[in-house]
Amino acid sequence: IGVLASGEGTNFQELINLSEKGELDIDIKVLITNKDDAGCIERAESVKIPHKIIRGKDFSQKELFELEIINTLINYDVELIVMAGWMKIVTPFFINKFKNKIINIHPSLLPAYKGGSAIKESLSNGSKITGCSVHFVDEEVDSGSLIIQAALQIFDKDNIETLTKKIQILEHKILPHSICHAGFLIRHNFMGNY
Ligand code: GAR
Repeated sequence: IGVLASGEGTNFQELINLSEKGELDIDIKVLITNKDDAGCIERAESVKIPHKIIRGKDFSQKELFELEIINTLINYDVELIVMAGWMKIVTPFFINKFKNKIINIHPSLLPAYKGGSAIKESLSNGSKITGCSVHFVDEEVDSGSLIIQAALQIFDKDNIETLTKKIQILEHKILPHSICHAGFLIRHNFMGNY
């Protein structure tokens, strides 16, 4: 797999941990990030997973930025692309290069709270239940076929920190399972049904 991440990389770390323990049969070929200071970089370095920083601002057009990512993923021969906290919207140009081979994790029960402030919005909206979703990536933002969702209750005493933490714990459980499921569908050529 190839991992795309923009942040701390706790989901990425969970994949590393499970893979090292032999509990998840994946080979993480490359980490791509768009942020110089992303925590995921150190995590990749510490276990010698190749990583590449590809910054949007270094390219005059979004298509060229995405082309660099596409070429990197092709060079590493990845079968599945995992967006684990990737905070940049990808265009149809990118998605169509890897049709039905990209999955994304999102901190809400999609289709509720799409976008970059999902946890904050679920709190400010007074939702009583939230969770996380892993889905195949299609041309619309935070859309595409769902693979796994997990739900949790929001309590009155919850705040952004407590809720983020609780959602992360669930994310670390559903992402590995989703990778297995997506990998199975891809390898057995079932994706026509999705
Ligand atoms: C995760 O909570 C993920 O759901 C979210 O970014 C976080 C990354 O955490 N993704 C999005 O909001 C995408 N719209 P991590 O860097 O610790 O894995």
